[in-house]
Amino acid sequence: MNRIDTLLDAAETRSADIVAATISAIGFESVADLLFQEILFRARIDEVAGHGHAATTLILVHAGHKAEFTVQAEPRGGDLPAVVITQDAAETILALYGPRESVSADTRTVCWPGTELAQRAWAKKPLPGRWAGSPQRILDVLDRRDQENLGRLAVYYGTDKWGAAHRYTPRYEQHLGPLRDRRLTILEIGVGGYDDPQSGGESLRMWKHYFPRAVVCGLDIVDKRALAEPRISIFQADQSDRDSLLAVIDEIGRPDVIIDDGSHVSAHIIASFQALFPSLRQDGLYFIEDLQAALWAPVFGGSEDDLTRPDHAFGFLKQFIDGLHHEEFLGDSRTAVPTDQEVTALHVYHNLAVIEKGRNADGSPSADLMRAFMPRNG
Ligand SMILES: C[S@@+](CC[C@H](N)C(=O)[O-])C[C@H]1O[C@@H](n2cnc3c(N)ncnc32)[C@H](O)[C@@H]1O
Repeated sequence: MNRIDTLLDAAETRSADIVAATISAIGFESVADLLFQEILFRARIDEVAGHGHAATTLILVHAGHKAEFTVQAEPRGGDLPAVVITQDAAETILALYGPRESVSADTRTVCWPGTELAQRAWAKKPLPGRWAGSPQRILDVLDRRDQENLGRLAVYYGTDKWGAAHRYTPRYEQHLGPLRDRRLTILEIGVGGYDDPQSGGESLRMWKHYFPRAVVCGLDIVDKRALAEPRISIFQADQSDRDSLLAVIDEIGRPDVIIDDGSHVSAHIIASFQALFPSLRQDGLYFIEDLQAALWAPVFGGSEDDLTRPDHAFGFLKQFIDGLHHEEFLGDSRTAVPTDQEVTALHVYHNLAVIEKGRNADGSPSADLMRAFMPRNG
């Protein structure tokens, strides 16, 4: 198990003692480095940089040891003394990676540069107008107040899930918002950036920010492993190759959320669904983006003919309507398929489908009654 998984597990317990023991077991220096990276990632300091903001120094404390990190909001460091925030490392881990109820600031001190500012005013040196941006950003992260909506995060990280091409983020938020505070494994097919191994990862970073307790995994036909970072794992796999997909599942375990934003070719969409849906956790969600490509012959090999064919993405999705009602069929016109009992809802929006996994076996007393009215053979 890697360090991040270990810390997420420890935070799940909500126990500061267990978290503190975990820090000692992993090593304080290495944990502090991970925490500084996470805080810097979430704080998005670049948005407040360049406006005369002071630096912030964060000191984490564990078992009599200290680790220090300074966030420089100005390219040249500005000329104001740093705001100094000190906090226990275990409390910080619970605040970053624990359930929302475990966020606290009991051990925190914040040392503001009051005297220096007064002296500056006394000497009639101008006070910068917006100097407190970086400490505010850091404190927002430590208090879990950095919870931006998904549309803003899409724009910030540069994925096209909201913008001229698509307006998916309100739909994602509708389905995923209630899961935001959960410990999740998210798998997205299609890292982005196509042939360039150094390019892409925008949506993975958006998910990482949106879900503070999630591990986000991306897979792409191109080797994008250079884009991995804490809480983002990347695999190389062709989404039409079942064995490669199952090898990824072996590594990451059962996902809670799967997003298909890969080739958008119907045959690939269907192959990925058939390989991955059985591994999706109960109550999990499976998203398929860019359904319109199934209509487009150029580039995607799509077709506008016979949209009920099961090898067309549209026809494939329509079959779930039948499957959802598998207990209502009175005759034997239909052959049962494994997803009949596992798909509890199908939502189709403009270019986006969402399939909910659960147990679809309520029984149907009304269908039983109907059968009683049916003429018997022989
Ligand atoms: C639309 S981009 C993904 C964008 C990204 N999800 C985002 O929102 O920022 C599609 C990606 O799918 C990858 N891809 C294309 N065919 C694939 C396949 N057969 N298997 C896996 N990935 C594939 C491409 O290399 C490309 O990087």
